[in-house]
Amino acid sequence: MEFSIKSGSPEKQRTACVVVGVFESRKLSLPAELLDNAARGYLAELLRRGDMEGKAGNTLLLHKVPGTEADRILLVGLGKEREFREKEYRAAIATAVRTLNETGGFDGTLYLTELPVKKRGVAWRVRQAVLVAEETLYRFDQLKSKKDDVRRPLRKLTFCVERRTELAAAEQALIEGQAIASSMNYMKDLANLPGNICTPTYLAEQAGALGREHGLAVEVLDRAAMEELGMHSLLAVSRGSHQPPQFIIVKHLGGKVGAKPIVLVGKGVTFDAGGISLKPAHEMDEMKFDMSGAASVLATMKAAALMKLPLNIIAVVPTVENMPGGGAIRPGDIVTSMSGQTIEILNTDAEGRLILCDALTYVERFEPDCVIDVATLTGACVIALGGVVSGLLANHDALARELQDAGLDSWDRAWQLPLFDDYQEQLKSNFADMGNIGGRPAGTITAACFLSRFTKKYDWAHLDIAGTAWRSGKEKGSTGRPVPLLTHFLLARAAKKVGAGETAR
Ligand code: BES
Ligand code: MN
Ligand code: ZN
Repeated sequence: MEFSIKSGSPEKQRTACVVVGVFESRKLSLPAELLDNAARGYLAELLRRGDMEGKAGNTLLLHKVPGTEADRILLVGLGKEREFREKEYRAAIATAVRTLNETGGFDGTLYLTELPVKKRGVAWRVRQAVLVAEETLYRFDQLKSKKDDVRRPLRKLTFCVERRTELAAAEQALIEGQAIASSMNYMKDLANLPGNICTPTYLAEQAGALGREHGLAVEVLDRAAMEELGMHSLLAVSRGSHQPPQFIIVKHLGGKVGAKPIVLVGKGVTFDAGGISLKPAHEMDEMKFDMSGAASVLATMKAAALMKLPLNIIAVVPTVENMPGGGAIRPGDIVTSMSGQTIEILNTDAEGRLILCDALTYVERFEPDCVIDVATLTGACVIALGGVVSGLLANHDALARELQDAGLDSWDRAWQLPLFDDYQEQLKSNFADMGNIGGRPAGTITAACFLSRFTKKYDWAHLDIAGTAWRSGKEKGSTGRPVPLLTHFLLARAAKKVGAGETAR
């Protein structure tokens, strides 16, 4: 999709379709009023006659309205003006884009981006409009032999802003929105691929291609290298699979030489059968999404490169397949992690933490400013928080706050859970330094407690995206989350550095 920004009167737009909003009941938004004036009250007349109420989700498509220059005018219902907030704004953009795509025009000019949204400025509205538009039009059909193409799909969207003084901010927001949206699509494509295609080796190849395209340094450690480093916890997980494990490192060095890097670690289990602690068959296909953490951090590196962020950022992806082959680890097996701590593997399905712990030890060498790991780690998180917010746990409250704020800003929200010491007891083992499970109570927290034992040397936060990374059911598929949260976090960090007197490159 091609996007642009414009400021100008709606009645003068020569375009396939001008889109304006109508509030309930029958109240024209400002741009709609301008159109109505040019059309000598034609729109108001239609509303009076009952053609449209302005209820959220309603649309009315008009052709060749007298006094206006566009081929069509699309009226989009916005619901009650008092209740029009972020969620309603996003829904209106989605309705507009979906309808435009189905009505056969190549381009559309949206005045919805001029609508006031409480506490949000023009930059937010434009960024979100790009994200929602791309989200609405995203399809994953590369593995279908027949694609159901739209006959005349939408190619170009123009977002309007009220004042010329807003143009610069809107243009910058457009660049950011496009970088985030294309990175989300990149994540979705990777995560939607099935386990027989998207293997650890495939992920490593994709990381290499990403590096070549965007000038990122990429390094991949193989099994021998991991053995050398003592990553026996990670290696234990991959033993039941024919797919060799990979350890991927991607670097974006846009900051000052020597500035401490932000490190992102993503869980890359390309298929999680559970191992010997085999999962039940129902919806097991969804465990191909168990590399969503990996896909999200690779996608975030793409966004960082596209936006040329003046930061040093390193992504680390431990990637394996968790299968119950003959070589698989057994419940009760004890392994020594790279940190030297021993782990009794009581459940082979709690594999995410087993690969992450070695990655979290590995990243100590970067002397990180902070480390954020992203993982589809626990079913308990789906039960606690559903698909609305990601679970957030941290050993540093200021970092947790930054991530929570980035989530609110990007509409990709996270909510903090406590990491109190009291929960650590649940990980006690009779035979090793710790067990890899803490029982049913507080499963998301005990998983994070396990990780916290490997993150003592730096500021660390953990995002459990088990509920937010994909949708189940009829609309099954990757959501592209938490790419918006992570990129907003980085954008805020970059802005802070520039504000503190460092120059952006
Ligand atoms: N990948 C799963 C977590 C998961 C489950 C994500 C359902 C999304 C939906 C993880 O590896 C896992 O199996 N976790 C276990 C841990 C348990 C054995 C302590 C779980 O949550 O059941
Ligand atoms: Mn598992
Ligand atoms: Zn898993």
